[in-house]
Order: sequence, then structure tokens, then C-alpha cells
Amino acid sequence: MSVITTIEDLRVLAQKRVPRMFYDYADSGSWTESTYRANEDDFKRIKFRQRVAVNMEGRSTATTMVGQNVAMPVAIAPTGLTGMQHADGEILAAHAAKKFGVPFTLSTMSICSIEDVAKETGNHPFWFQLYVMRDRDFIERLIDRAKAANCSALVLTLDLQVLGQRHKDLKNGLSAPPKLTLANMINMATKPRWCLGMAGTRRREFGNIVGHVKGVSNMGSLSEWTAQQFDPRLNWGDVEWIKKRWGGKLIIKGIMDVEDAKLCVQAGADALIVSNHGGRQLDGADSSINALPAIVDAVGSQIEVHIDGGIRSGQDVLKAYALGAKGTYIGRAFLYGLGAMGEVGVTKALEIIHKELDLSMAFCGRTQMTAVDKSILLPGSFPTATS
Ligand code: GLV
Repeated sequence: MSVITTIEDLRVLAQKRVPRMFYDYADSGSWTESTYRANEDDFKRIKFRQRVAVNMEGRSTATTMVGQNVAMPVAIAPTGLTGMQHADGEILAAHAAKKFGVPFTLSTMSICSIEDVAKETGNHPFWFQLYVMRDRDFIERLIDRAKAANCSALVLTLDLQVLGQRHKDLKNGLSAPPKLTLANMINMATKPRWCLGMAGTRRREFGNIVGHVKGVSNMGSLSEWTAQQFDPRLNWGDVEWIKKRWGGKLIIKGIMDVEDAKLCVQAGADALIVSNHGGRQLDGADSSINALPAIVDAVGSQIEVHIDGGIRSGQDVLKAYALGAKGTYIGRAFLYGLGAMGEVGVTKALEIIHKELDLSMAFCGRTQMTAVDKSILLPGSFPTATS
């Protein structure tokens, strides 16, 4: 592989090194994938205003997300099955994030458990993403486990009571650990680095769940399991008891509508994430960057607004920040790095994005992230609250 300079380089390498079932899981959207594609495409339409002969010394991309210092307004997004992209994937990504000074968010559907990540990162605080399942005892224990592990924010996902259909996952028979069918074995035989890593770890199942949910020792296919366990009755009343039981910083994920954004304010959340789940749930929903301005306009003075979906570069981070997102999340961008090269690859993804962000901010005539606003964008090129 030649020199890696972009997230796309990492994606290409990950596609070579990660078994097809798991690469496809990360790199797909639901149904026609129109929202998945729109998330990236709509960033491309936004244009910057270049400024020149501004003193560019002493630049800083540092800012805060929910009151916590971050080296740049980028967090690692919660992604399911991260430890299947690379052995011990969650631990490796948490290490990389800790060293870089950005938050790492652990998914409920992770392979490495909350306790494993806490132990392996020396109890450095990370964020925990919560899915609400029918078994409320389990959810209460999960919240308590996140507290005991020193997690410094709870990211509550509200857009996955039911699962959007992703064709490739069904065709590949996605499961963790993968079933040893002939097709899977033939594919895995072409991924020796991945196999070696997996042979050297005990973490190959859903670490937060197996052994913690009554009767679950084997999860079968992900789609079947989700249909059985995730709670389709989840509502704003549940947000209230979850907030109370958690008692710390609360971030609500999966908001695409101004009315729902107002309900996040009413619920007393510290932040909301404008998100269509990376185009993996409602196919045909707007892109998250298009949905952002109306939500910032309606609630941005009352709650911190964050965004995920389609962010593949520092330029994308800068555009989102300029449109009022105080934080952004990268999912696929870090997974490609992880699948390509483990911890080094996640660090590489963060470095690529940071460099792009820092230099693009400078080209727009700003030296401080916190001084970036809409005025760095070309009028008419970006979505507005009413467009
Ligand atoms: C959720 O975990 C997903 O697969 O999008």
C-alpha cells in the first residue's frame, strides 16, 4: 500500500483485510441506501469562503463537548460489532481516542464489554451508548455498569426500536461470532491478519450482553435478535427514568425533526445528536447535514447540538461546526482505520481529519475553532433553517 493520506485509503485497505460480512455491515445503509449516500453527498455541496493574508499562527482546534475538553470537535461514534472489524477493536479505538484527546463512545452492541474497555484504558472516562431493550432489569444494570466504569456521558439512542433492513447483512447471514459456513471460511481464509488477531483474543461475542441477559448465550443473527430484544414501545417517559437512574451527562442520539429536538430540551438532555443512524434506518430520510440548521435554529441556544452521518474529512467537520454543530461523530471513518491497521489505523484516521480541519480552518481565515461560524461558508451553498 502506498502512503495513506485519506480516509478513502483506509477504507480500501479495510475492505481487503476485514471479512466481507463485517466490512459490509459497516459499509452499508438500509434498503436503497439513498440516505446513506445523501449524508456524504450533501456535505460536498457546501462551499467555503477562502480568505488570505490573515495571520495563521497559533491555531487551535480545541473546544468542548458537553463541557469536556476535546482536541477537536470530533468523537468516536458508537458502532456495533467494532471488535469484529479487528480483534479487541473497541479497546484499540478507545486507546487511540484517549491518546488523541477525543471522546470514545462504546456501543451497547460492542464485542469488548464496558468493564474490559475500562480496565484496558486505565479507567480513562469514555462515553457509553445505550439501546433500550425489553428487559428493563438488564437496562438498569447496564446503566449501573456504565456508572461503575467511570463513563462520563450516556448516549441514548432513540432511533432503533426496530431495525432498518440492510440487504447485505441478511445475504451474508451476519452474526458474531461468524458461523463457520463454507462461504465464510473461504472468505476468512483470504484475511490472515484478521484471523490471527481473532485467534489471539477471547472477545468474540457481544460482551455487554452474553451472560448478562437472561437466557442469552448465543445471539443467532443480529436482525432476529434485535427484533426479539429491542423495545418497540420505547417512549419519552422512558427517557425520564433513564436520565434519573444515570444522573450524569445525557446525550440523545437519532434526532432529525425539530419537534423531537424540542422534546430533547424538555427531557433535560445536555446534548442531542442530529443523526439518521448513518443512513441505516429510515431510507429516504433527509441527510443529517441538511437537517442540522433547522434544529440549531430551534433549540441551539438551549441544548448543545451535535451531528453524525457522512463525515469523512476535516472539511466535513468544519462545515458542520460552521452550521452550528458543537460536536461531530465519526463512525465509518474510524472503522476503516481500525479494519485496515488496528489502533495505528484509528490514530491515522484521527490525524487525517485533524490535519484537514486545522488547515481548512486556516484557509478560511480563522485560527480558533471556537471562532468558526456560518460566515466561513459561501452564501447560497449551504442548507438553512428554512431550505
Ligand atoms: C446498530 O447497531 C446498527 O447496526 O446500525
